[in-house]
Amino acid sequence: MTEQQQYSKGLAGIQVAESDICTVGVKGVGLNYRGYDIKDLAAYSTFEEVAFLLIYGSLPSQNELSNYKRLLSSFRDIPGGLKDILERIPSSAHPMDVLRTGCSVLGTMEPEVNPQQDQYRIANRLIASFGSMLLYWYHWTQSGKRISTVTSPDDSTATHFLKLLRLDGKEPSGLHVKAVDVSLILYAEHDLAASSFGARVTASTLTDFYSCICTAIGTLRGPLHGGANEAAMILLSKFPNTASAESGILEMLKKKELIMGFGHRVYRNGDPRNPIIKEWSKKLSQEGGNPTLFAVSQVVEDIVFREKKMHPNLDFYSASTYNQIGIPTNFFTPIFVISRTTGWAAHIIEQRSNNKLIRPSAIYTGPEPRPYVPIIERS
Ligand code: SDX
Repeated sequence: MTEQQQYSKGLAGIQVAESDICTVGVKGVGLNYRGYDIKDLAAYSTFEEVAFLLIYGSLPSQNELSNYKRLLSSFRDIPGGLKDILERIPSSAHPMDVLRTGCSVLGTMEPEVNPQQDQYRIANRLIASFGSMLLYWYHWTQSGKRISTVTSPDDSTATHFLKLLRLDGKEPSGLHVKAVDVSLILYAEHDLAASSFGARVTASTLTDFYSCICTAIGTLRGPLHGGANEAAMILLSKFPNTASAESGILEMLKKKELIMGFGHRVYRNGDPRNPIIKEWSKKLSQEGGNPTLFAVSQVVEDIVFREKKMHPNLDFYSASTYNQIGIPTNFFTPIFVISRTTGWAAHIIEQRSNNKLIRPSAIYTGPEPRPYVPIIERS
């Protein structure tokens, strides 16, 4: 065996593909989706415009956007058979498992037949119906109510989600809708994050679109990846005030415990999405939200930076943003799914367009070759 060959654990710093979708951590270039800076997209566009950009490659004209929003709203109802199955998922299930199951079941009912055409339809069908699947299951298991998942065709993805969550027949507040919409823009795409890379590995075998998305959902669920926004909220809810946050975080750091929502494989000097989402969490705290939660978050940020020189990633202030809007904590990562299905779709379509099976190899460190031992001779 040759001397220990070098390899990069977790593929850190390794480039494995060419892609025209997004730039992350490129020297001197910010976070861009197909060349548009995330700061501009978050400030001036909507999630539906960004979804169109990622999936079709350009920002939509006014007419294209109107048609696209109509298309998404036409995809928000879910088949009766899927509702039956959602009703059988226990209330104790994690909402990420509900989406992974819903994706799989929809794939059996509306299969991909011709990938070149169907991939766009399925991407939009999932973006539009993931919120419906989740909230249909939620209201059935919480109160035995079978809700209609269709709202006004003019409703954005953010409005549709909040209306189905609250079911109070009222228009959700403009501040809440805008905060969710911006979070959907920020979560939409991020180069070869673990879930997107997983989707590409799956796509490279030429399997179906739903299988790629199931891979991505399962990958995103982990607390080192998308599950961090839920884990960050669980951490923050342990601190009723800033004093307990200070002592609690110092204790955790002393025990070398992970502070969820901090750190990043690529960003070593801060996540460009953080200041944007933090501003929305602050705005919510000043307009009827939870000022203590924001103050506790700020203390956690200050201490982790002071002690570890680590910065929050997008998941940290997404937690207090969603909490102040009244979104259940275990719905945080499912919202990430609704948004990142746009980025995952872009990567699946790109992988299919110039495919090569993704199959790396490992450096063998097992036993030297040895003779077989019959079982009667084994102790
Ligand atoms: C997302 O890839 C993407 O783009 C993902 C994402 C996207 O949009 O798709 O940005 C979304 O997943 C953001 C990350 C969400 N995860 C978390 O917030 C979980 C907490 N963070 C860590 O687990 C960690 O920072 C990672 C997983 C995000 C990155 O880890 P790396 O690159 O593998 O770095 P590492 O684990 O080798 O850490 C280096 C050192 C270690 O200390 P030592 O062993 O060298 O002493 O930093 C420490 C780590 O213990 N460290 C932390 C820490 N993150 C790293 N210590 C405390 N708290 C943390 N959060």
